[in-house]
Amino acid sequence: QKLDMELAAIEKGGYEHFMIKEIHEQPQAIFDSLRGRLDPESLNITLSGLDKIKDKLINARRVIIVACGTSWHAGLLAEYWIEELCRLNVEVEYASEFRYRNPIITSDDVIIAISQSGETADTLVALENAKAQGATIFGIVNVVGSSIARISDAGIYTHAGPEIGVASTKAFSAQLTVLLLFAIKLAEFKNSTSEEIRKQLTKELSTVPEKVKYILDSTIENIKVIAKKYQGATDFLFLGRGYNFPIALEGALKLKEISYIHAEGYPAAEMKHGPIALVDETLPVVFVATKDRVHEKIVSNMQEIKARSGKLISVVTEDDQLAISLSDEHIKIPASHEMIAPILAVIPLQILSYYVGIERQIDVDRPRNLAKSVTVE
Ligand code: G6P
Repeated sequence: QKLDMELAAIEKGGYEHFMIKEIHEQPQAIFDSLRGRLDPESLNITLSGLDKIKDKLINARRVIIVACGTSWHAGLLAEYWIEELCRLNVEVEYASEFRYRNPIITSDDVIIAISQSGETADTLVALENAKAQGATIFGIVNVVGSSIARISDAGIYTHAGPEIGVASTKAFSAQLTVLLLFAIKLAEFKNSTSEEIRKQLTKELSTVPEKVKYILDSTIENIKVIAKKYQGATDFLFLGRGYNFPIALEGALKLKEISYIHAEGYPAAEMKHGPIALVDETLPVVFVATKDRVHEKIVSNMQEIKARSGKLISVVTEDDQLAISLSDEHIKIPASHEMIAPILAVIPLQILSYYVGIERQIDVDRPRNLAKSVTVE
């Protein structure tokens, strides 16, 4: 028993929980997922998995992304990226729904499967069905040699390393890294985005590990205070638009998993069709509001919540005085391209859910009723 406890402590490398250790490992997980693929000098991208099905991808009628949980959120953001950069139809499917519908699949479809474990039963069976109908399977998987890796025709591994905490953190940021690399490279093949924009994105992507490190170094103390202040709330609302919408969903999921507080993620503009009825002075509303093409729109959503006395907690771009002045609490992250910002914006939300869970004395590495990998239905 004592030996087990000591071993666990060694594995946690001085951190109290795997979850916070893994949150801190993200600069490395992202760096490792870029290494050998993005050349920081030439800004060239090399993805041998993608080369393998290059023609299929260039001629694909559409891409269908299949995943569950946090991996599904990565897929949703990938839809926005791939559509923008590659001008290709993308659908994002919950594996459990996809496998029990009668989806129309042809040999012109490419299925992208996203899975940390590579063993999620719903995802695996959805892929088996699609494969039987002639689709090409491209896997984005963390565990080498896992079932989903083996069933894939080609793929790219995320190099997040083993993820032990039940709530996914570093696997998610590694998935986003690889998916953005994929979208930029496919845009090159399809000649659907200018070289200038592709190079700009590649260059910024290469700086993400250091920006994430900066966020970890500069925001935690502030977030601890916020967590303490709001840990008694019964509900949280997470709002975002555009590239930050999937991040709002992920922020809400993380908080639910780790704190047992009811949380919903919503597209910020959609809130007026329902969730706005919940807003009063007891409701914390987390805005993912970094500067992008819809920034003005989300600022007016913030004003709508403020007018109804909701508590505004926002993740903002460093120099955004207007968003800061509207917020009860704000967490600043460095400026970046709007397509890169979501990879940064999720970090404070992971940290927030971790510290809210800690305040509420929850076993954050093993929250009740959840499994790291859902290998049965
Ligand atoms: C479980 C885990 C989640 C994960 C999901 C999908 O619910 O608790 O963290 O996102 O499964 O898992 P996968 O391994 O397929 O990414």
